Amino acid sequence: MFRSHTCGELKMADVNNDVTLAGWVQTVRKFGSITFVDLRDRYGITQLLFNESLNEVLDKNPLGREFVLQVTGKVSERSSKNANIATGDIEIAVASFTILNKSITPPFTIQDDTDGGDELRMKYRFLDLRRNAVKKNLALRYAVGRSTRNYLHENNFMDIETPFLIKSTPEGARDFVVPSRMNAGQFYALPQSPQTFKQLLMVSGYDRYYQIVKCFRDEDLRADRQPEFTQIDCEMSFVEQEDILQMFEGLVRRIFKDVKNIEYTETIERMSWMDAMWTYGNDKPDIRFGMNLCNLKFPSHTFSEQQDIPELIDGADFKVFDEAETVVAIAVPGCANYSRKQTDELTEWVKRPQIGMKGLVFIKCNEDGTFKSSVDKFYTEDKLKAIATAANATAGDLILIVAGAEEKTRKAASDLRMYMGTTLGLRKADDYKLLWVLDFPLFEYAEEDNRWVARHHPFTSPKPSDIHTMINNDPKITNATEYLKHPYANIKANAYDMVLNGNEIGGGSIRIFQKELQQKMFAALGMSEEEQQHKFGFLLGAFEYGAPPHGGIAFGFDRLCAILGGSESIRDFIAFPKNNSGRDMMIDAPSTIDEKQFEELQIKLDLK
Ligand code: AMO
Repeated sequence: MFRSHTCGELKMADVNNDVTLAGWVQTVRKFGSITFVDLRDRYGITQLLFNESLNEVLDKNPLGREFVLQVTGKVSERSSKNANIATGDIEIAVASFTILNKSITPPFTIQDDTDGGDELRMKYRFLDLRRNAVKKNLALRYAVGRSTRNYLHENNFMDIETPFLIKSTPEGARDFVVPSRMNAGQFYALPQSPQTFKQLLMVSGYDRYYQIVKCFRDEDLRADRQPEFTQIDCEMSFVEQEDILQMFEGLVRRIFKDVKNIEYTETIERMSWMDAMWTYGNDKPDIRFGMNLCNLKFPSHTFSEQQDIPELIDGADFKVFDEAETVVAIAVPGCANYSRKQTDELTEWVKRPQIGMKGLVFIKCNEDGTFKSSVDKFYTEDKLKAIATAANATAGDLILIVAGAEEKTRKAASDLRMYMGTTLGLRKADDYKLLWVLDFPLFEYAEEDNRWVARHHPFTSPKPSDIHTMINNDPKITNATEYLKHPYANIKANAYDMVLNGNEIGGGSIRIFQKELQQKMFAALGMSEEEQQHKFGFLLGAFEYGAPPHGGIAFGFDRLCAILGGSESIRDFIAFPKNNSGRDMMIDAPSTIDEKQFEELQIKLDLK
């Protein structure tokens, strides 16, 4: 037997038993004639004791960090126990050992508090993966996957694989393409998601499909994005939105229970896209804390359904507010005593290029009921009080106000809210709040091309009540500056996103399943009939053979794991991730290919 136990399981009950362990040398500590070694494997660490009878052999065969060792010996009680590790009560009195393999000195210490920087650990990811922190993340990922599979299996979903070499139909992100040797000059694309295939499976009658599947998108990377990432991809036939929301609330509750032992029994809040933008300035709001936006000024065509609030800021001759399209305030609890330095820092924060505001107005709601603001010159105490009331501020709060163009200002207010939430410790990693965001606009206006693009994807159905608006209106935008007045701007999608702690963890929709409506959709996006046939002829064709009503959702598997693991960086939850330039530092990819490969592919490379 190579090993009788792992390095994580021996306890007092095993004392006096003869065991064989195999693992990696974490540390070697010599005390006079005896040597202690910490032996590590996937399951834990066990202390080995080499007494003086082994000194000579050890001298001839010195052990080093990360050597692979097999030892046989007796389990004995430690004289000084270590309560921090599971095997801390015992050690192995080594009788014999074999060095199975040597190791050169690793470039960083393989410990929880490693001395290795990010880049170095990425380059030697196979060593980084030996560390507990990373191991713990991969174990969590495995648990999320297992819980998902169990739940979906119990609910009659069937795991079906779809191809990775498909056709390029960029929409949203760019495709990664793969040249075809057998079809010179032609390319496959790697799927951005299995969207069309899962819909075809519905036409085929597999009414509950899922796949935990790799997706590929050539887009700019961030902490929560990787060029190849994994989705929990699902589709169902004969369903309405409500069926899908309930089925996947069930999935997420199950994952919470199985993986975190959390009974997430509370109702999952639902919010329209419009309300999310109005109240939080963001379509994936973190609803674990308040600090809701107070919309002092806003473009009425964007928020036509929202109530105007009394004119509080106009007419004071304060140019910044008078000239702004949008003015938004948030009341930060308990910060009225911020010093000049602190408010200056906040002003600098909103002026950073990522936020892009010209400045920040603040009103301190003092404990004694008075107000002090950076705009005292323009606003009377009564006006400041009225603004404070509108912003739901109470004594002791600090009101922060940003002003400018609608989109930028709303985003800045949202970013500021999140920043203050983090600063005040209101965004705790182990506090979870789920939210559905519903009723997204179906279309978005693409200024560069003066046309509509699908906000989600072109297969998403409009709300049934909006189908007639879509069919009966010409998608053409005649007046670009007034696109918001076009009937298409108000069409709502039958789409939903699931948000966890301010992160979009999943998104999906009820699909178009009638050929005519799908053609209308493609046409609305500016696709000619020819282009529709070239890109999506297979789907339009399939819709002629009895396509059932269907809908689905895909969760960002890496993202979900990261949040459940208390991090917003998905890299830590992927065994072999890419860095921020999309490179695999370990295998050094992407890389050049041989001349011969170019020849076979009949591709000429002409790098200027
Ligand atoms: P969508 O594009 O919204 O929908 O993707 C679904 C979820 O995948 C995650 N995600 C990512 N995770 C890591 N890196 C990325 N680059 C990345 N891009 C997206 C997000 C997102 O919510 N086919 C549709 C789903 C459907 O309609 O059923 C789709 O792909 O968490």
